[in-house]
Amino acid sequence: MRREFIKDVLKRKDFGTEITVAGWVRTRRDSKGGFSFIELNDGSCFGNIQILAENSLHNYTSEIVKLLTGASVSVKGKLVESPGKGQSVEIHALAVKVLGFCKQEDGYPLQKQRVPFEKLREVAHLRPRTNSFGAMLRIRNRLAYATHKFYQERNFYYLNTPVITCSDCEGAGEMFQVTTLDLNNLPKTVNNKIDYSQDFFGRKASLTVSGQLEAESYACALGNVYTFGPTFRAENSNTRRHLSEFWMIEPEMAFADIDDNVRLAEDYVRYLTSDILEHCSEDLDFFNKRIQKGLIERLTKVSEAVFKTINYSNAIDILIKSGKTFEYPVKWGIDLQSEHEKFLTEEYFKAPVTVVNYPKNIKAFYMRLNDDNETVAAIDMLVPGIGEIIGGSQREERLDVLQNRIRELGQPIENYWWYLDLRKFGTVPHAGFGLGFERLIQFCTGMQNIRDVIPFPRTPNNADF
Ligand code: 4AD
Ligand code: MG
Repeated sequence: MRREFIKDVLKRKDFGTEITVAGWVRTRRDSKGGFSFIELNDGSCFGNIQILAENSLHNYTSEIVKLLTGASVSVKGKLVESPGKGQSVEIHALAVKVLGFCKQEDGYPLQKQRVPFEKLREVAHLRPRTNSFGAMLRIRNRLAYATHKFYQERNFYYLNTPVITCSDCEGAGEMFQVTTLDLNNLPKTVNNKIDYSQDFFGRKASLTVSGQLEAESYACALGNVYTFGPTFRAENSNTRRHLSEFWMIEPEMAFADIDDNVRLAEDYVRYLTSDILEHCSEDLDFFNKRIQKGLIERLTKVSEAVFKTINYSNAIDILIKSGKTFEYPVKWGIDLQSEHEKFLTEEYFKAPVTVVNYPKNIKAFYMRLNDDNETVAAIDMLVPGIGEIIGGSQREERLDVLQNRIRELGQPIENYWWYLDLRKFGTVPHAGFGLGFERLIQFCTGMQNIRDVIPFPRTPNNADF
């Protein structure tokens, strides 16, 4: 079937031309004069195209008047200038071919009235046909495209890192195990431990929490690389910003320090926001009106902003001096909680802020130890409405310091032999970060819940679809 995309048709002016479109009926209404108006959407853009179908069409009474919301059709017709309000073009149908009815008795869940997001999660396979999820996915798609553009333009190589791994990058023990052992009949060693040598990979394996360690190996050979892949965390957090499976973009740069890292993170976020402002204006208008007032103004500010960077110690001072009572008391050494991040970005700076140089005790083993021996060269970018969107660091490139850190944190050093090799053989200063793709989309759309910015969310107790 040769069909035109509605997004292109809506821009055309060659009235009288015969064209074919195909899509799903959003609404259909009968008019007294013996014709029907069909609002058709094909997902190519936010807007619908209006189809005028007259009762002279051979299947008018047998089929067209039976079209309900959700039905699928292809329409051949003439492009005409629309006399109605709200659209500039419409199609006068010469033939309406019904591809699939949507019968009343089958109960299509997406009727004209708005369905709450919680309810839509129960029909995650159909929710892409709503305005919100169409717009979300188009923005998600554009942000993915802009990500590749950004890194490719800056000489970063795109790298795929393994999904199944035997290293725990964050050392937080939040990994999903991958096994083919019979759970009802586990093989045991002489010490009555599970005998992983009989497992599929001959050892205990898991889904990755981050592609960073493997990205470092390629950065320490090719210079600049980035990953863009799925990551998995078995943390039991039921919040509006945690998923068990999410997508992360992880750039890694050789010959780079913490300042280069902060600069890259800021450039990247600025680039993304200005890219979608330019290319997704119609969808952003929708989010701006219906989901979060002031969204476009906020994104515009971010796209032009010089970001704030502060030391962790200064952030703690600001929080203490704020005089606010936080649920989680503030003192030097704590990990910033979402209430603290909220205060810093929404009340104090009213803008994104990058907090750097965190205490070593709350950060991962691979972060470079600062000269004070207390803090590490970590960077976390916090944004209003979400909190942490980026986490990263300069990496520890000194073999002995790294070995000490791994031991200090009680990690199994033998697992990291290959990672240590990168320091043994021609070590270089290097740095990188991870940006949580879904948190970014939340920030760019104003969507409250992270479950609504990924096609099929996985969270504790939920892996439907
Ligand atoms: O701060 P995180 O844990 O950092 C890392 O994984 C590093 N290895 C990245 C690196 O340096 N290459 O995670 C990075 C980002 C967070 O800032 C957050 O945006 C997102 O990943 N993130 C999550 N997003 C959704 N659900 C979760 N459970 C997330 N955990 C982290
Ligand atoms: Mg983090």
